[in-house]
Amino acid sequence: MSSVQPEVLQATAVDANLKSYEEARRTFDWSEVEKAFSWHTTGKVNMAYEAIDRHAEAGLADKIALYYSDANRREAVTFGQMKANSNKFGNVLRKLKVAKGDRVFIFMPRTPELYAALLGTIKIGAIVGPLFEAFMEQAVRDRLEDSEAVAIVTTPALLPRVPVRDLPHLRHVVVVGDSAEVGAEHVDFYKEMEQASEELAIEWMDREDGLILHYTSGSTGKPKGVCHVHNAMIQHYYTGKIVLDLKQDDIYWCTADPGWVTGTSYGIFAPWLNGVANVVRGGRFKPEDWYGTIVDNKVTVWYSAPTSFRMLMSAGDDLVKQFDLSSLRHVLSVGEPLNPEVIRWGLKVYNHRIHDTWWMTETGGQLICNYPSMDIRPGSMGKPIPGTEAAILDDSGNVLPPNRMGNLAIKTPWPSMMRKIWNNPAKYEEYFRMNGWYVSGDSAYMDADGYFWFQGRVDDVINTSGERVGPFEVESKLVEHPAVAEAGVIGKPDPLRGEIIKAFISLRAGFEPSDELKADIAKFVKLGLAAHAAPREIEFKDKLPKTRSGKIMRRVLKAWELGLPTGDLSTIED
Ligand code: PRX
Repeated sequence: MSSVQPEVLQATAVDANLKSYEEARRTFDWSEVEKAFSWHTTGKVNMAYEAIDRHAEAGLADKIALYYSDANRREAVTFGQMKANSNKFGNVLRKLKVAKGDRVFIFMPRTPELYAALLGTIKIGAIVGPLFEAFMEQAVRDRLEDSEAVAIVTTPALLPRVPVRDLPHLRHVVVVGDSAEVGAEHVDFYKEMEQASEELAIEWMDREDGLILHYTSGSTGKPKGVCHVHNAMIQHYYTGKIVLDLKQDDIYWCTADPGWVTGTSYGIFAPWLNGVANVVRGGRFKPEDWYGTIVDNKVTVWYSAPTSFRMLMSAGDDLVKQFDLSSLRHVLSVGEPLNPEVIRWGLKVYNHRIHDTWWMTETGGQLICNYPSMDIRPGSMGKPIPGTEAAILDDSGNVLPPNRMGNLAIKTPWPSMMRKIWNNPAKYEEYFRMNGWYVSGDSAYMDADGYFWFQGRVDDVINTSGERVGPFEVESKLVEHPAVAEAGVIGKPDPLRGEIIKAFISLRAGFEPSDELKADIAKFVKLGLAAHAAPREIEFKDKLPKTRSGKIMRRVLKAWELGLPTGDLSTIED
């Protein structure tokens, strides 16, 4: 919001799919994009068909769709094979009497099987719920319970975290593993796949039918099931073209896991709707493996996150020099604020501008972005994609002029917008409380030239390493620990992870503060909820600041932490 001249990194790409952002904003029409799909004429649709089968049937059956690798496995899957494998899995589910609209969860690490299962689920019209492999039993249970899931696909290693008791709707547990590890009460994935037909009658859907459920966190309550529909493909396809700048010969790598929305919208749908080869690297983050993945696959377009870029930055410039990264032509980022310093570093070591993109689980697709053919102002998320409108609103829903900070909002609708919060219409309506606008929960401002600048969250949601964590969920888990009387959780700024989770805890009578107790409490959350939800810092307090109605005031905890004034304490307990 300063008046000094912003730093500008000039557009370099001369042959970008989006030639002129300004012109596209004037002339763009979503109905033109729809014509790319076969359903434009029939009105019936299936995301998995458009992503895979359509290309297999149009002469690309032998083109590689998936380049998979992890420490022990390396495999390439063609569009033709992906079509056959997903058809088979669709048949496996049909045999189990799974039907259109049923919820099917996929809880396993990234492997070629995950992708076949996810697409097969979509092909029979079921709604797929991908779950991150780090989730522990409670997190899995919350999601299966809320969505009344009928089936889950998992691996022997994750099976102990799949609750089967007290989930009356859950009829099938499909296990992807060695037959010896598959119990009689489970469905043996490989055995069933072997017997299943490669021919499948695809379930043709209406464009507004359910496609996918991604659970995400808010500042209160349990995680909420954000439901997207098949219609989202219009935006996935289009942003794949103009933001990812995908072209037929690209080798594209999105580093996100399908348990998070980036790993599906841009790790599955966008590249394959564009018929582009998609790289998947299994296993954990290691700088050498990541650079190796770019070299081995000759990755051209790379979509990752600020935390990863910061970790690569701290791994050093010398490491970069050991790898030939010359295949890269376009680099992008999402999930958290992208530090200008990281962009400058990227320009120096990769010789590429890192293009920031802003969107959310709820938005289903990219909305505010930097484009290859547009100047970048480091620190800005960019400008809204053609066909959408973004604005900054005050708390009454009035549009604010440039350079004023307020609520970042998007004019409704857009093709990939969520269509409901599972089981929770009231929560859904909350997002749209400001007449015709979707209110993101982020605060931002727009400069005089239309660039948007992220400022923070307006609620207490924590963003740690690009993963969204609700403080309430962590607090609820913490108070289950026998030593914990009360807990308040905040995001504490961290140079590498953006934020880390910090818990303030008051102990029950008879428990004394100690480092061992801290470690034990952190482990309790890690094992009970998920590793990324465990507090990295714990501070014991005799008492926590509370409102008179007993609500812990995270705002005060945050102020303590940052050494800031605590502000209005008129509602505090004592
Ligand atoms: O606060 C914003 C931040 O991540 C939130 C959305 O998180 P999630 O639903 O998990 O989706 C992440 C990936 C789509 C937003 O409300 N966020 C996302 N992108 C950016 C960002 N913050 C700053 N800059 C971004 N580019």
